[in-house]
Amino acid sequence: MALSLSNFFITICLLLSVVLADVVTYDFDVSWVYANPDGLANRPVIGINGKWPLPPIVVTKGDRVIVNVKNSLGNETTSLHFHGLYQNGTNHMDGPVGVTQCEIPAGSSFTYNFTVEQPGTYWYHSHTRGQYPDGLRGPFIIHDPDSPHKDLYDEEIVLTFSDWYHDLMNELLAGFINIANPSGAEPVPASSLVNETRDLSVKIEAGKTYMFRIVNMGAFAAQYVWFEDHTMRVVEVDGIYTEPMDADMLYLTAAQRCSVLITAKNSTEANFAFVGSMDQDLFDVIPDGLNPNVTGWLVYDDSKEKPEPKEIAEFEPFDDFALVPEDKEGIYDHVDHTVQLDMKMDNLNDGANYAFFNDITYVHPKVPTLYSVLSTGPNATNPAIYGTNTNQFVLEAGEVVEIILNNDDPGKHPFHLHGHAFQVVSRSDEEAGFYDSSATPSSDFPSAPMRRDTILVRPNGNIVLRFRADNPGVWLFHCHIEWHVASGLVATMIEDPLGLQKQLSGHIPEDHLASCAAGNTPTAGNAAGNTNDLLDLSGENKSPGTIPEGFTARGIVALVFSIIAAFVGMAVIAVYGMSEIKTKTG
Ligand SMILES: *[C@@H]1O[C@H](CO)[C@@H](O)[C@H](O)[C@H]1NC(C)=O
Ligand SMILES: *[C@@H]1O[C@H](CO)[C@@H](O)[C@H](O)[C@H]1NC(C)=O
Ligand SMILES: *[C@@H]1O[C@H](CO)[C@@H](O)[C@H](O)[C@H]1NC(C)=O
Ligand SMILES: *[C@@H]1O[C@H](CO)[C@@H](O)[C@H](O)[C@H]1NC(C)=O
Ligand SMILES: *[C@@H]1O[C@H](CO)[C@@H](O)[C@H](O)[C@H]1NC(C)=O
Ligand SMILES: *[C@@H]1O[C@H](CO)[C@@H](O)[C@H](O)[C@H]1NC(C)=O
Ligand SMILES: *[C@@H]1O[C@H](CO)[C@@H](O)[C@H](O)[C@H]1NC(C)=O
Repeated sequence: MALSLSNFFITICLLLSVVLADVVTYDFDVSWVYANPDGLANRPVIGINGKWPLPPIVVTKGDRVIVNVKNSLGNETTSLHFHGLYQNGTNHMDGPVGVTQCEIPAGSSFTYNFTVEQPGTYWYHSHTRGQYPDGLRGPFIIHDPDSPHKDLYDEEIVLTFSDWYHDLMNELLAGFINIANPSGAEPVPASSLVNETRDLSVKIEAGKTYMFRIVNMGAFAAQYVWFEDHTMRVVEVDGIYTEPMDADMLYLTAAQRCSVLITAKNSTEANFAFVGSMDQDLFDVIPDGLNPNVTGWLVYDDSKEKPEPKEIAEFEPFDDFALVPEDKEGIYDHVDHTVQLDMKMDNLNDGANYAFFNDITYVHPKVPTLYSVLSTGPNATNPAIYGTNTNQFVLEAGEVVEIILNNDDPGKHPFHLHGHAFQVVSRSDEEAGFYDSSATPSSDFPSAPMRRDTILVRPNGNIVLRFRADNPGVWLFHCHIEWHVASGLVATMIEDPLGLQKQLSGHIPEDHLASCAAGNTPTAGNAAGNTNDLLDLSGENKSPGTIPEGFTARGIVALVFSIIAAFVGMAVIAVYGMSEIKTKTG
C-alpha cells in the first residue's frame, strides 16, 4: 500500500514536471542590417530577423530551448554559444567552431536543442572567429520559480553594457594580428553602450525594489557600473546565487553578469544618473576625444530633468572575491589534477603578436575536437591525438581539477570556462608573479568560495580555480577579450572522453554534420583528420613558427617594423604603431 502510494506520488510529480517544462522555440534568421547605436557612425551589424539590438532569450528553469539558426549573412559563417550554460549531456550544442561543431555556412540552417537546468543571468553570442562584436550578442535569462530572492523584489530589469567599434571585426582583426602591429595593441572601442544604445531612460516607480540583471556583452572593455545615490545588493554572479552583499560600484569584465537589488526612493522629486565606464587601463592608446562613459537614468518622473552624472574621483569597485554562494558549497579541499597555465604575449616569426598558454598559441584543429573524441574509441583518452596547437588537457570523470593561471603579462584578462562554474579559491593582487602554493597556505582559502564562470586575473598576477569534472564534454577555457581569443589565448578541457562517447556517439544531428560537409570539414580522426594512425598529425593546422634562435623578439620586431613602415607609410603606423613596443618576453 505504502509503495503504491509513493509510486502514485512519483507519477504525479513526473506528470507535473512534464506539464511545467515548456519547449521554447526561437527562429533566428541571422543577417546584416544597419545601425548607429552611438550616433557617430551608421554601419553594418549582425541582426536577427531583420532587427538589431537582438531579442533576449527568456525561459524558465527546466525548459527545453530550441534555437533554429538560419545563416543569411551571405558572406560569413556563424555559430551561437550560450554563455554560462552547462550543456550537461549536450556538449554538441555549446557552439564554439572547431571545438564542438563546424561553422554554419552561409545559406545553411542549424538547430541548437538543449534543456536549461540552471537559473540566472546569461547571454548568447557568436563563437565564430571575432564575430560577436559586430553585434551578434544578446541576453539569455533563466527564471526560477524557486529563487531564494524572489520575495525581495517587485520587478526585474535587464541591462546590458558593451563596447562598440565603428569598423567591422574582420577588418580590425586583419590589422590586429599583423606585422604592422608587433606590440599587439588591441583596437580601442569608439564608444560604451548600455542596452546597445546611449542615454537610456529606465522607468522606476517610487518605493519599489527592482532586480537589475546586468550583463557585460563587450568585446574587450570591462566596465565600472554605478547608480548615483542608490545602493546595490548583489544577489547573483554568473548564474550563482550569493548571500546579499552591498556594493556602491561594480566591476564587470567582458562576459561577466551580476544581479543587484535596488530599492527606489519614496519620492519622485528627482531622477538619477547611472554610468558605465570602460576600464581604460586595458587600452594601450587612448584616442583623442574618447568618451569611455555611457549614461542612463533611473527616471522617477518624466517631466523632471535628467542630470549629468557627477564626476567621481576614484574607481573603487566592490570585490567579487568576497561573495559567498547562497548554497555555501564547501571548498574542494582535495585536488586530483592540477593544470598549470602560464600565459604570455609574444611575437612569432610572421612578426605578429600572439597570446600563449605554456608557450603554445591555440589554433583550432581540422576536425572539431568533439568529433575527434567521438571517432577515436579508446584512443580518445590520449591527449596527443588532439594536436600540437590546442592546449589540450584530458580530465577523468569525477576528479577535482585545479587550474593555476599565472599571468606573465602586464594586462588584465577575464578568463572563462565553458561547461562549469568554478570555485575561485585564490586571486592575487597585481604584480604578485606566479602562484606559490607554499606562500599561500590552503588555510587562507575561503571555506565556501565564490563561484562564477568568468574571472579577472590581475596584471602579472595569478588565480587558482577548482571544479569537479562531472560534465562530460569538450570545454574551452579562454580569455574573453575577443582579440585574445583570435590571437590564441585558449585551452581545451577534454572531460571524460569515454563518458562523452557513451552520451553522444551516433547522436550528432544531421544538420550539424551537413554544416561540416558544406564547409569540407572532416568529422573523424585526430586533429589532422587522420583516421588510420591517430598519432600522425601531418597536415594539422599550426601556428606560425617561433622566432629563429639568435634573433631576439625585440630585434625581429624592430626589423619587420622598419620594413613595413617603409612600405606602408605613416597611415598604418599612426593607427597601430604609435604605442610603445612592449615586447613581453622579459
Ligand atoms: C559582408 O557584408 C557586409 C554587409 O553587406 C559588408 O559590410 C561586409 O564588408 C562584408 N564582408 C566581407 C568580408 O565581404
Ligand atoms: C530536441 O531534442 C529532444 C531530445 O533529444 C528531441 O526529442 C526533440 O525532437 C528535439 N527537437 C528538435 C526540434 O530537434
Ligand atoms: C534593455 O534591453 C533588454 C533586452 O536586451 C530589455 O529586456 C530591457 O527591457 C531593456 N531595458 C530598458 C530599461 O529598456
Ligand atoms: C520608504 O517608505 C517606507 C515606508 O514608509 C520605508 O519603510 C522605507 O524605508 C522608505 N524607503 C526609503 C528608501 O527611504
Ligand atoms: C567619465 O567618468 C569618469 C568618472 O566620473 C570621469 O572621471 C571622466 O572625466 C568621464 N569622462 C568623460 C569624457 O566624460
Ligand atoms: C551533470 O549531470 C550529472 C547528473 O546527470 C550531475 O551529477 C553533474 O553534477 C552535472 N554537472 C554539471 C556541471 O551540471
Ligand atoms: C590506438 O591506440 C593503440 C594503443 O596505443 C594503438 O595500437 C592503435 O594503433 C591506435 N589506433 C589508431 C587508429 O591509431
